[in-house]
Amino acid sequence: MKISIDTDKKEILRDGQTLDLYSKEGFELLSDLWLKVGWNEKYVYSFSWMGRPIIQLPEDAFRIQEVIYRIKPDVIIETGVAHGGSLIYYASLCKAMEKGRIIGVDIEIRKHNRTAIQNHELFPYITLIEGSSVDKQIVDQVQSLINPGETVLVILDSDHSKTHVLNELNAYSSFLTPGSYIVATDGSMQDLHDVPRGQEKWRTDNPVEAAKTFVKANQNFVIEQPVWPFNESKLDKNITHWPSSYLLRTH
Ligand SMILES: C[S@@+](CC[C@H](N)C(=O)[O-])C[C@H]1O[C@@H](n2cnc3c(N)ncnc32)[C@H](O)[C@@H]1O
Repeated sequence: MKISIDTDKKEILRDGQTLDLYSKEGFELLSDLWLKVGWNEKYVYSFSWMGRPIIQLPEDAFRIQEVIYRIKPDVIIETGVAHGGSLIYYASLCKAMEKGRIIGVDIEIRKHNRTAIQNHELFPYITLIEGSSVDKQIVDQVQSLINPGETVLVILDSDHSKTHVLNELNAYSSFLTPGSYIVATDGSMQDLHDVPRGQEKWRTDNPVEAAKTFVKANQNFVIEQPVWPFNESKLDKNITHWPSSYLLRTH
């Protein structure tokens, strides 16, 4: 794609087409490009939440907060713990809401990360489980921590290959109550295949492909971006590394 920007004329030229720079289309075009450049610069590796590194785009973290506050789940399950920043973030929301607890699963919880998470003031809200998120034993262990009738929200942020995410969707979706979401994060891989740090195979090997395959086989789930609870703009699309990631259980 060829893009040129004329700030004097307030125009963007894209493949011969002229767009208003100051327009919804202009903003979306620049945002899509900004996401790719930012990802390559490891922008998402530059944030922390209450002392722990969190590997998320702030907008994605903000948007899921809107969903968590609306649903107020009893349990939030997250696969992919890394430094624990996202677990601490969700735990801080639970503390503020006076509701909910977190289960974090990771194939390897490094000693220094485990120590830091266990020493954090929000650790009482968190259960850590070490093992592959798709191992039956691990899935059973997670299930044993959920009581019948509890509202469950699941965030998949571990291995982002299509096969793994599809296996996770199959393993964890049954924990969901209708009206809640299983979130297959980092589908932006589909658009990052051509950036310097990306991989060509991501074009098709990504969480969006897993989500599409899953909803085709499971009629009680739809891919749906949650509605923004507040919006005084004309914008309506998340600026996100999680495209097509929210799978709503409808019934
Ligand atoms: C992107 S990081 C998670 C980031 C974290 N959720 C955050 O927001 O800060 C991905 C993590 O997934 C873990 N992982 C990779 N394969 C896994 C698997 N099969 N099961 C569970 N965790 C896995 C890695 O060890 C790594 O810590």
